[in-house]
Amino acid sequence: MSDYVWWKHGVFYQIYPRSFMDSNGDGIGDLQGIIDRMDYLVDLGVDAIWISPFYESPMKDFGYDISNHKAIHPLFGDMETLDRLIISAHERRLRVVLDYVPNHTSDQHPWFLEARSSREHSKREWFLWKDPHPQGGPPNNWESFFGGSAWEWDKANQQYYLHLFLKEQPDVNWRNPDLASAMLDIMHFWLKKGVDGLRVDAVIACLKHPDFPDNPIHDNHPFTQIGLSQEPKYTVDQPDLHDLLREFRHVSDQYEDRVLLGETGLFDWESLMRYYGQALDEFQIPFNFQLMFTPWNVQAMQQKITEYYAHLPQGAMPNFVLGNHDAPRVATRFGHQNHRSVGMLLLTLYGIPTLYYGDELGMENGIIPPDQIQDPWALNKPEAGMGRDPMRTPMQWDASSHAGFTSANATPWLPVAVNYKECNVDIQRKDPQSTLHFYKKLLHLRRTSPALHRGNLNFLKGLPENILGYARLWEAQHWLVLINFGEDSCLLNLPEVEGDGKVLLSSHSRDETSVSLKNIELEPHESLLLEIGASFTEDH
Ligand code: NOJ
Repeated sequence: MSDYVWWKHGVFYQIYPRSFMDSNGDGIGDLQGIIDRMDYLVDLGVDAIWISPFYESPMKDFGYDISNHKAIHPLFGDMETLDRLIISAHERRLRVVLDYVPNHTSDQHPWFLEARSSREHSKREWFLWKDPHPQGGPPNNWESFFGGSAWEWDKANQQYYLHLFLKEQPDVNWRNPDLASAMLDIMHFWLKKGVDGLRVDAVIACLKHPDFPDNPIHDNHPFTQIGLSQEPKYTVDQPDLHDLLREFRHVSDQYEDRVLLGETGLFDWESLMRYYGQALDEFQIPFNFQLMFTPWNVQAMQQKITEYYAHLPQGAMPNFVLGNHDAPRVATRFGHQNHRSVGMLLLTLYGIPTLYYGDELGMENGIIPPDQIQDPWALNKPEAGMGRDPMRTPMQWDASSHAGFTSANATPWLPVAVNYKECNVDIQRKDPQSTLHFYKKLLHLRRTSPALHRGNLNFLKGLPENILGYARLWEAQHWLVLINFGEDSCLLNLPEVEGDGKVLLSSHSRDETSVSLKNIELEPHESLLLEIGASFTEDH
């Protein structure tokens, strides 16, 4: 399809590299492991892989604390391996997106070591230093996302430095032009290397209010959902951030056919939409995480999706994230019985999907014994319940020891989830009724049908309360998606369409190849994709 734009119409697949495939038996996934499993990804039918950080790092936040942005941590391989990975992906028409972490570095990054070496150092202002509050203690009340004050006392120079994440992740000062140009240079480095895009980490936090006022304390703000006890009014989403984002886009646009994805974890639509840019000149894909915080309930989901579409700027491409390395597995969050329906929703809504590794198998949260907890968020702030190890357990490749993720005599960095003997690639590959086959068929249908990857979406009206239904329409191609959120089977008589529907895919095994649109029985938790011919009128 000649007008198939890879980032607009395709599907992104997120790889958490520590957990995907270990090629050298040290218990930690690596770049060679991704190369070794590249054909699996091609066969699955995704268009791009986004690989979470693998740069040099003391690994306090598992790679989101970078000590050298232009070097690969030896745990993951070396630059030559990455070059081969990019070539190998491109040979298979798979795009490669890397993480870019502009809000903070590691406290072991040479920039920070120099900055903290003396108050007079030329790089001092590359980070955010403040004297104590006149009454003593930290300069203001800002809270770290990972718990406690966002200020760390530096005894040697008698000042605090700011860290919105771990104290080992000092925030950089984007208002300093030298820092800004060094950080932008990192974007150039990776784009020149030939990566197809960058996913920009924690971008809403890159600029802070220049006066550093206290954040308001009240408990009815949406950031409580990720464990903050204050509204991050002056630490995220500052108005002048958008000037910086236009610079990011300006850099990316100097290279052909690249994309920027923004980690825009915002809870109100107007603010989120601003990240597309007034002239669509910021992120092509400002991540929409809203469905991750929505209960598995027809009215709640439909309302969120409708609101999202209604707020989209003209010409902007919507996107949906349902699972990632920071959130519980979809099969655990929405219920095992619903995991295929979650896939149906993600891959049939109008918008760019990001699929998290292993969700195509229905992988569930792993169980991490207390003495094996690794995630600093869980260790620092257990009461927030935000521990992220359970959703980062090793990819389940087969039923051998450690699920085929690493060699038998190695210890995987996190324990493999207990269900790996029944839930793995090898078993599901052999079973045409498996979740893996369901995803493969869905990805194939999505890629080959304009109705799914670009068609308008119209919700069906007058459906029973547990049924979510929508049409996807492109020229004469009219498709219907029906998802039963309920625990009971449901007989449907669709008021807006006539005739029969061709069964393209069901989450359950169905023998019939067509159904009467006036008499469809959906099984409990079933999701169904039908082709109905051009029988749906858009102006209903
Ligand atoms: C967001 C990333 O997704 C998360 O994993 C990380 O811990 C923080 N940013 C800090 O970089």
